[in-house]
Amino acid sequence: MGTVIAFANQKGGVAKTTSTFNIGVALARAGKKTLMIDLDSQASLTISAGLEPYEQENTIVSALDRSGVPLSRCTLELKPGLWLVPSRLELAQLEVLLIGRPVRETILRRAIEPVRSRYDYILIDCPPQLSILTINALACADGVLIPVKTDYLAYRGLEQLLETVGEIRELVNPQLSVLGVIATMYETRVKDDREILQLLQEKYSVIATVKRLAAVKKGVCDGKAVMEQLPASDAAAQYEQVAAYVMERG
Ligand SMILES: Nc1ncnc2c1ncn2[C@@H]1O[C@H](COP(=O)(O)OP(=O)(O)OP(=O)(O)O)[C@@H](O)[C@H]1O
Ligand SMILES: [Mg+2]
Repeated sequence: MGTVIAFANQKGGVAKTTSTFNIGVALARAGKKTLMIDLDSQASLTISAGLEPYEQENTIVSALDRSGVPLSRCTLELKPGLWLVPSRLELAQLEVLLIGRPVRETILRRAIEPVRSRYDYILIDCPPQLSILTINALACADGVLIPVKTDYLAYRGLEQLLETVGEIRELVNPQLSVLGVIATMYETRVKDDREILQLLQEKYSVIATVKRLAAVKKGVCDGKAVMEQLPASDAAAQYEQVAAYVMERG
């Protein structure tokens, strides 16, 4: 059975998408069959993978709306061992409709169930809100990875996220565990970054610290992960470290 991991943080721009994509590529390179699901109407993961959201016929929208297209038909192979369920803008409208559906927390879980055994890992890129979509991701995940930028407001936002995770665990998904925090866009030379990193490390389990690097950003335009763009960089090693941690935890 594939392990489902949600990349979640209600704070915007903390590298949820970048982390999902890079760790997805790292897992696939390590020989693990990996499916990435874009659960954000901004379709950033879809674009990061080098695809045009509007050119995709079946997306996460068709899998979650009433047409209920099987997830297997919404899945594209990106490279050997790596698949993607793309997203598109219409997910924003669907989200409003989902709220009126019965057992609305487990719509994604039910969509994933039939394909779960085909993959070693299923990574879900969540949107930057604690919305019904994020709740659906947490309701079907075995673990949550939390990317956090090393700045004070991002640090302060974690409390609320962990509360939500606690509630989901109690009410819908007792399986759910917090795998840890990924400190992102870290700049060693910035004093504030160093201080926030220390606060994060004191309070949470920080699995890796990913440095800010132009090649990570550039990779988004080229549809490439940092280990393909600049394999010898710290950021590549740091994302591989998270992938290794995930594989160790099973
Ligand atoms: N290590 C890094 N070095 C440099 N730039 C980075 C790094 N990680 C992420 N970025 C850049 O930071 C921006 C935000 O990253 P990303 O889109 O992954 O965040 P997000 O949390 O998914 O955002 P949203 O909340 O909008 O979904 C992007 O432009 C991305 O390219
Ligand atoms: Mg994103």
